Amino acid sequence: MTVTSPIRTLGIIGAGRLGRVLAALAADAGYRVLIARSGDPAPIARAMSAIGAEAASVSDVVAGADAVVLALPLGRYRTLPAESMRGMLVIDAMNYWWGADGDRPDLDDPRTSTSELVQKHLAGARVVKGLGHMGYQDVEDEARPAGASGRKAIAIAGESADDLEVVSRLVDDLGFDPVIAGGLASGIMLEPGADAFGADVDAGELREMLDGFATSRRGIVVARARGGVLPA
Ligand SMILES: NC(=O)c1ccc[n+]([C@@H]2O[C@H](COP(=O)([O-])OP(=O)(O)OC[C@H]3O[C@@H](n4cnc5c(N)ncnc54)[C@H](OP(=O)(O)O)[C@@H]3O)[C@@H](O)[C@H]2O)c1
Repeated sequence: MTVTSPIRTLGIIGAGRLGRVLAALAADAGYRVLIARSGDPAPIARAMSAIGAEAASVSDVVAGADAVVLALPLGRYRTLPAESMRGMLVIDAMNYWWGADGDRPDLDDPRTSTSELVQKHLAGARVVKGLGHMGYQDVEDEARPAGASGRKAIAIAGESADDLEVVSRLVDDLGFDPVIAGGLASGIMLEPGADAFGADVDAGELREMLDGFATSRRGIVVARARGGVLPA
């Protein structure tokens, strides 16, 4: 129960499968957790309280948190209150998922990582991609204290070294070894279609997957779409 990041209150927008698992892990680690669904938080208040989190509206989560995790369907990202999120550290765990988001070629464009789209909408916020490449059940089952043998890794991508350091500490507190993939554009290496997507592996293996992106099937598609230049 040690919070090592400067985040004291963690906000989570999206109280579904992933959001609830992250909320429980963060609460166990000693964070105060505020969590929102799409509408009235009252119906989930009791369930959230049982895992140590407080249900709140999206606006109250944004107002009360030191950093916010996005765990809502990616196709809804434009509903996020960009103005009130200016300046915030935002951890984007969202992925394009046809079943949830429908046919959205804009969210599956190999020229742009989806976190860059989110960053464009949340102008003024500091977006880091993270906590979204591992399935929620693995996140729930595999969290282990630092130094435990067989500890799994979660990769993050972002522009600011300071923000990556803060999110690394959060990842560590939640029970995983952090691995830095690169800048926000390189978040595409964590998206569906990439080897790291769905990966439930340790830091060494995850690093190998990221290093092998250029020669992977998705990496070749991405490189072609970008005129041969891969994101760094
Ligand atoms: N499931 C996984 O294993 C997994 C793993 C990694 C990443 N992800 C990503 O995490 C995100 C959530 O996935 P999930 O499986 O947890 O989905 P989910 O179980 O369907 O839950 C979605 C949550 O988002 C909320 N929501 C929907 N629209 C919203 C809005 N406009 N504002 C605020 N909250 C909103 C929903 O609230 P209501 O109940 O009110 O509709 C619900 O609480 C997706 O982007 C997914 O790609 C999922």
